[in-house]
Parts: sequence; structure tokens; C-alpha cells
Amino acid sequence: MTTKRIAPSLLAADFGNLQRDIEMVNSSEADWFHIDIMDGVFVPNISYGMPVLEAINKHAKKTLDVHLMIVDPDRYIKDFARLGAHILTVHFEACTHLHRTLQVIKAEGMKAGVAINPHTNIDLLKDIINDIDLVLIMSVNPGFGGQSFIENTYKKIRQLKELIIQNNAETLIEIDGGVSDQNAAELCKAGADILVAGSFVFKAEHPLDTIQNLRKLANS
Ligand code: DX5
Ligand code: ZN
Repeated sequence: MTTKRIAPSLLAADFGNLQRDIEMVNSSEADWFHIDIMDGVFVPNISYGMPVLEAINKHAKKTLDVHLMIVDPDRYIKDFARLGAHILTVHFEACTHLHRTLQVIKAEGMKAGVAINPHTNIDLLKDIINDIDLVLIMSVNPGFGGQSFIENTYKKIRQLKELIIQNNAETLIEIDGGVSDQNAAELCKAGADILVAGSFVFKAEHPLDTIQNLRKLANS
């Protein structure tokens, strides 16, 4: 079985001490940096944009996993490639021509991810699954950190895993929202490959130990 990964979400970092928090993740057992870009249109919140991503890229020494919660993401694909994104995830609900968008992301040298909101059915990915490197299942409604985990996520993970196997696809499954030590092991048992964790990591008294523990639970 492949190793399960942990991706701390910088949305919950202390932006006054961003370099310190990035170095913490660099020195931790975390695998990826999860970076949430929100435009105030697709979601009712604005996070941060290009200059902050540029600063993150300067210090981060791990894979940059960029989650776009923006409308019309095609406008910025080239910019995100230039700013060092390794994985670029767009929302299913924000793309009219999803197939084309994924091809452009790949042509720019990045892995292509598709995020789905809690209400979006896994079956809608049937005809596109072989083109997706990663599916991000939202386990909260996108827009904010610190929300409670939606239990229906387990069912979606199992359905997605089945779809991936049926199609001989190599798509990874990422879970985002409300991840903690209470659900990490079960999520990975259901089929998750990557767990995003924001507040659980950055609001912890000992973030390094928290990451180590999450990773251990994910791989248990
Ligand atoms: C929410 C973001 C998440 C968020 C997760 O829209 O996509 O990545 O940072 O935060 P927690 O882990 O606090 O739920
Ligand atoms: Zn996210």
C-alpha cells in the first residue's frame, strides 16, 4: 500500500509569522503544503493571492498543492505554474469546460486536480476520471477553516475509490475540511490518500507532534 500523505493548510497559519510557520512545515513529517486561493465570488471569503504565493514558494521546500476556489480558473493557470504550483486543483462546479482546463494545467507541467463540493455527486466524474491526477473531496463547504467534518464524506470516498478501480485510473483521493486525529485513520481506511489539515495543525500547542501523529494515524 502506498504511503498516505499529510498536507497542512496554510490558511490556518499565522500570517504575521508566515516564514516561521512554513519552516515548521519544512522541518515536519508533512508531505505537501496545501494552499487555498479564494476569490470572494466562488466562495464567500477572500484568502490570499499571487504575492503571498510567491513568498510561500520562496521558503517552502515541499510540494505545493494549490486549491483554487475561484470562478473561471483558466485565466490564471499560467500564473500558478510560474509561481511554483506542483498540483493545481480547480473546482468541478467552477469549470464549464473541465476537460480543456485539465489539459491546459498538464500542458503547463502541473498535476491536475478536481475538487468537488459536498453536494456534488461522484458519478459526475465518470467521463473524466482518467484525466484527473487527484480528486479533492470537500468534507466541509469551501470558504473557511475550522468547520466541522461532514460524515457523508466516507460514502463518497468509497464510491470514488470504486470508480477509480473500475476505470484503471491512478487518481489520488484528497480530503479537505475538518480533518483531525478523530477521523484520520478512518478516512484513509475508506480510501483517502492525502489528508489536508488546517486548524488542527496550526492551532495545536505542538504542531510538529500533531503532524507526526496525524501521519501515523493515516498510515495505521
Ligand atoms: C476550506 C479550505 C481548507 C481549509 C481546511 O475551504 O479548502 O483547505 O483550510 O481547514 P480545516 O482543516 O481547519 O477544516
Ligand atoms: Zn483547501
